[in-house]
Amino acid sequence: MILPEKIVTNRMILEQPVPTFALAEEVYAKVALSIESLHRWLPWAKLDYSVEEEFAYIYHVQQKWQEKTGFAYLMRNSKTNRFLGIVDLVKIDEKNKIGEIGYWLSNDAVGNGYMTEAVQALEIHCFAAGINRLIIRNDTQNLRSANVALRAGYHLDGVMRQDRWDEVMQKFADTNIWSKLKGE
Ligand SMILES: CC(C)(COP(=O)(O)OP(=O)(O)OC[C@H]1O[C@@H](n2cnc3c(N)ncnc32)[C@H](O)[C@@H]1OP(=O)(O)O)[C@@H](O)C(=O)NCCC(=O)NCCS
Repeated sequence: MILPEKIVTNRMILEQPVPTFALAEEVYAKVALSIESLHRWLPWAKLDYSVEEEFAYIYHVQQKWQEKTGFAYLMRNSKTNRFLGIVDLVKIDEKNKIGEIGYWLSNDAVGNGYMTEAVQALEIHCFAAGINRLIIRNDTQNLRSANVALRAGYHLDGVMRQDRWDEVMQKFADTNIWSKLKGE
């Protein structure tokens, strides 16, 4: 499947990242600003996360785009060009037409509805590209993430009980599985 390199929403431009050190520094600065909240919920967000790791991530994203196996977008305010966060489509199952949406926002972009807007814009293109079932997963304690799924109209399929080891809390954790089907 293929998704557009750029998606325009009411307030944002979602764009494919091109790996440059300047971009890695820009995104890294927002990760650093937000590391406490990201660290709680995202396993990659270690407290000693570095700009080199950010560059490696963006390079990896470019490879996934080229292979057409993953599609991560930088979210930017279309008026100011300010970087807001990342939304992506990953874990694409071509046979069953399933994909998973993931996301994070910089702390200074939370509370404005940007992620709900981004998810709703991305899903239109996912369904148009042939996806039949979109999934969002989150820790059952991650209420902000659950609220994005709810606001965007996803259905709570259920809870996978203790399906993950939570490194931060040092305990097994439960995962919500949300879905939206084409046409819903
Ligand atoms: C999960 C995360 C992206 C949610 O961010 P968010 O800002 O709460 O979500 P949205 O961008 O959809 O914004 C919704 C909020 O903006 C408010 N809002 C303001 N203007 C709005 C508008 N025009 N439209 C919609 N909502 C608006 C909503 O009321 C809501 O705030 P509230 O929850 O305090 O009521 C963010 O908290 C985050 O990055 N967390 C850390 C990483 C993470 O957990 N990622 C997900 C892993 S599964």
